Amino acid sequence: MKKNDIDTNEDEKNLTNLRIYQEELEVQNEELKENEILVNKLYNKYFSLFNNSPLAYIVIDHKINIIEFNNKANLILNNTLQKFSNKIFSKYFEVKDYLKFKEWITNNKFEEQEFLICDLTIHKKTNKFKIYASNYDETENLYLLSLIDIQSEYDMMNSIEKLSKQKEEQNKLLIQQAKLAAVGEMLGNVAHQWKQPLNNLSMLISSAKIYLQSIFTQDSKKSSLIEENLEKSLSQIIFLSDTVNNFNKFFISQNVNEDDFNLITCINNIETFTFNQLKDNSIDLVLNLSNLTIYGNQNQLTQVLLNLLSNAKDALIQNQNENSRYIFIETSKINNQIEILVKDTAGGINENIIDKVFNKYFTTKDSNNGTGLGLNLAKKIIEEQFKGNIEVKNEAFKHNNKEYKGAVFKITIPINEN
Ligand SMILES: Nc1ncnc2c1ncn2[C@@H]1O[C@H](COP(=O)(O)OP(=O)(O)O)[C@@H](O)[C@H]1O
Ligand SMILES: [Mg+2]
Repeated sequence: MKKNDIDTNEDEKNLTNLRIYQEELEVQNEELKENEILVNKLYNKYFSLFNNSPLAYIVIDHKINIIEFNNKANLILNNTLQKFSNKIFSKYFEVKDYLKFKEWITNNKFEEQEFLICDLTIHKKTNKFKIYASNYDETENLYLLSLIDIQSEYDMMNSIEKLSKQKEEQNKLLIQQAKLAAVGEMLGNVAHQWKQPLNNLSMLISSAKIYLQSIFTQDSKKSSLIEENLEKSLSQIIFLSDTVNNFNKFFISQNVNEDDFNLITCINNIETFTFNQLKDNSIDLVLNLSNLTIYGNQNQLTQVLLNLLSNAKDALIQNQNENSRYIFIETSKINNQIEILVKDTAGGINENIIDKVFNKYFTTKDSNNGTGLGLNLAKKIIEEQFKGNIEVKNEAFKHNNKEYKGAVFKITIPINEN
């Protein structure tokens, strides 16, 4: 073969090889193009997912600087993010417990504690957020945060809780009122049944007295003794029948009418209600009353004063020996206001709790003896029905030359003189 022939042969071989390479390159190129399309598609998918998510996404680095954010995150910030070059997270979101927040992220605590509930302040407004974190790019120490504003759910939960608490309180009050109504009704029946027999008894005794006078005309000593006893029996019956009447008036009358009433009569009624109970517990009720007239509902004021007496009684039984148990009721008129003082010698109310005693359900007694409603109701009645005021303080004072200390409740009621 000649040299020339050999050359042509080589050339042809090279050419075929080149063709093969070219074809291979073309195939590879095609594949690359397809892959590029795929990558673009994936990127678009990711971008659209990231950007259009209803959750706010923020990518941060380990110094808590914002690297990336989605539309929702920007929306939460009123579109202020893109305007600034400063990307310090806490410039936009003021985190209440920042150290804890930072530690939770940078120490990868989110791997154990799935989310954090945080108070974030944005443009001076603080909302509760639920924050999730995850690793975003481990080689560059980036984290992905998702922020969910849960303030409205939180508010809703709070108001539901409040509502159910209110309902519970209303139920308690209803039960209390129902109990009181039942007791009232029962007493009303008793009072009604006792009325006639008491009348009969007093008539019988009166006629016995007249009989006696005719029989014992000679033995006047015997006569006067029996007469005296009969007189005492009569006064006991009158006392019983007064008590029954007063109970009746207080519990049965659905009287919500307001009218002028005499304060002395009102307090004397209260004395008959409580007389036995106070006597049994060696408590002296000392009255110092001025002749005053109040406009309003007498039953309601009676209820207030009964509550105060009952509290004083409880405190005296708890704190005082039988020699120093006094309750004082004093009334007076000062500057166009009626003042009613109810004080006791039980030592007073602990200064730590004295501000709370008018609160609903505040009680220091066990559930059999206290409801914590008495003073709350008293305050409501005095303020709303009598447009007055009730307050309490501890005071030291003298009675019969002896020093005492106790709670003093002061009720002031304005007088409307026209
Ligand atoms: N005269 C008083 N002396 C001492 N503590 C009193 C007196 N009156 C009221 N308190 C305190 O105030 C609390 C609230 O009273 P109250 O509203 O009547 O509820 P309750 O009598 O059912 O406890 C009582 O539990 C008691 O601790
Ligand atoms: Mg009470």
